[in-house]
Amino acid sequence: MTPEPTAAYTLHTALDGITPGQVQGFFVDWPNPPAPDTFLRLLRGSYRVVLAVHDGQVIGFVQAVSDGVLTAYIPLLEVLPEWQGRGVGRALMTRMQDELRHLYAVDLGCEDHLVPYYEALGMRRGNLMFTRNYARQDGSLPD
Ligand SMILES: CC(C)(COP(=O)(O)OP(=O)(O)OC[C@H]1O[C@@H](n2cnc3c(N)ncnc32)[C@H](O)[C@@H]1OP(=O)(O)O)[C@@H](O)C(=O)NCCC(=O)NCCS
Repeated sequence: MTPEPTAAYTLHTALDGITPGQVQGFFVDWPNPPAPDTFLRLLRGSYRVVLAVHDGQVIGFVQAVSDGVLTAYIPLLEVLPEWQGRGVGRALMTRMQDELRHLYAVDLGCEDHLVPYYEALGMRRGNLMFTRNYARQDGSLPD
């Protein structure tokens, strides 16, 4: 897939050639974050990914998981702190919404303060029910 040029970064929807060294610095404030190789594993297991790449480094990403028929869920969207507030998150989400346009339902969960952010992207507020197993937060392979 041909990267789309922007002023400072390119958007990619394939993981070809991406190495753990290029996906550093994410999962800010996570007590037990996935290591870069685990991060790449979760990206490879996704239905769709969009990466923002600057100078060989991934500076933002969004992933979607899906049945490929009706529904998709967007578990993770993150932009590196030094790149936030420059439109990267919006560009990632807009591209992901386009990648998922053939589906019936696209859902995600977010904190209250981000509701306006996603409403501006055309999403509607609903309810999310969830569980968390914090011992598995780093995504390491079980023994
Ligand atoms: C949320 C996040 C992805 C936004 O990415 P970003 O690149 O900083 O956002 P953008 O620059 O594209 O912002 C687009 C618009 O949303 C607004 N916005 C950005 N972050 C916001 C926030 N936390 N709360 C409310 N509005 C926000 C911006 O002001 C901007 O509005 P404008 O176009 O009218 O100026 C980024 O802040 C991030 O990685 N946060 C930590 C991880 C996280 O919370 N991910 C979301 C999980 S649901």
